[in-house]
Amino acid sequence: MRKTIYWIEGDGIGREIWQAARPIIDAALAKESDLKLDWQELLAGEKAVAETGSPLPEATMQALRTAEVAMKGPLGTPVGTGMRSLNVALRQSLDLYACIRPVRHFDGLETPVKHPERVDMVIFRENTEDVYAGVEFAAKTPEARKLVAFLREELGVTKVGDEAAVGIKPMTEAGSKRLVRRALRFALDNGKQSLTLVHKGNIMKFTEGGFRQWGYDLAAEEFADVTCTEKEPVAGRLVIKDRIADAMFQEALLRPEQYQILATPNLNGDYISDALAAQVGGLGLAPGVNMSDTLAFYEATHGTAPTIAGQDKANPSSVILCGAMMLEHIGVPKAAERIRTALSKAIAARAVTVDLADQVTGARVVGCRQFGEIIGENL
Ligand code: NAI
Repeated sequence: MRKTIYWIEGDGIGREIWQAARPIIDAALAKESDLKLDWQELLAGEKAVAETGSPLPEATMQALRTAEVAMKGPLGTPVGTGMRSLNVALRQSLDLYACIRPVRHFDGLETPVKHPERVDMVIFRENTEDVYAGVEFAAKTPEARKLVAFLREELGVTKVGDEAAVGIKPMTEAGSKRLVRRALRFALDNGKQSLTLVHKGNIMKFTEGGFRQWGYDLAAEEFADVTCTEKEPVAGRLVIKDRIADAMFQEALLRPEQYQILATPNLNGDYISDALAAQVGGLGLAPGVNMSDTLAFYEATHGTAPTIAGQDKANPSSVILCGAMMLEHIGVPKAAERIRTALSKAIAARAVTVDLADQVTGARVVGCRQFGEIIGENL
């Protein structure tokens, strides 16, 4: 049995982190399954420019449009092509609407909090709407003035000054529901006890408040027999609750063990993903996946780290943990667990890359390649 995995090497440290990570992913799988991964490289970024002249060749997009699973290293934003960001281009053109980030602590990593081990959450962040839609007009431009005039004259809005910069925050029922549906399915498939809708609906009643309401509506419409609400709990059912975003940041610090799955609009999700990752000391380790209805696209969440590229100093953990998530997704959760345990062991034994050395007392600094080899042996 073979499974095609499309992969993009990425720029900067991309090559070295992949060289460390791929053997680990293959070896963990071989220990648990007869399935073999058929790695098919797709070009993007600098490598693509060198070979084809384009940072995102049509052949890459064509393969991704029909792919089920893909993984990518970090991509720098190419200078002089007029493209804002390859990552944004990929997310938008492939409709990767759900950004999923698991957050947990690894033993041995020192953290800013006393009990990082109480954090074990998966964040589902809506990836296409909200203020990220990119509809913004600079202050005092004809466009902004026109929009303000429209608001005043047609809609009776008096609070927006003539000279304001203005942005639009679109959030739809369909967009919110498809994100919450995915989070709910994941929560149920993985035997979780609760799902929390994180919103700012007390202030933004129709956008963020809409997200909250549509989340509850979806649970009632499609998952009525397996879910319940916090107010009316039913034993054995998944509890749907909601928290106002600022309160959620407090809860994440004070009572993280009460939260397992978070479903959030785009901006809240951006903030809370990084805050939680920092809380467990793992900002540089965090894996992530962006999903459409057909494609799961795993990506190292850090950038290209140009200042250390090619020096064997990079930490390959994000891509390795992306591999673990991918193996879980294709149905080999034991191989995924093997990878996480092997990485955990390396950190607990204090053999870490230089970026983690400050967070591990008595750390022995190893290079990217050796870190990968240690994890490989721990498998
Ligand atoms: P960065 O994440 O590349 O670097 C920030 C800091 O973290 C640097 O000190 C870097 O050396 C360190 N770092 C990052 N990853 C590391 C790793 N795996 N091991 C050890 N140290 C690591 O962010 P920066 O400098 O803002 O961006 C550099 C380039 O990366 C830009 O072109 C940016 O557009 C791109 N980028 C791409 C992303 C993606 O493809 N998902 C995400 C973020 C940035």
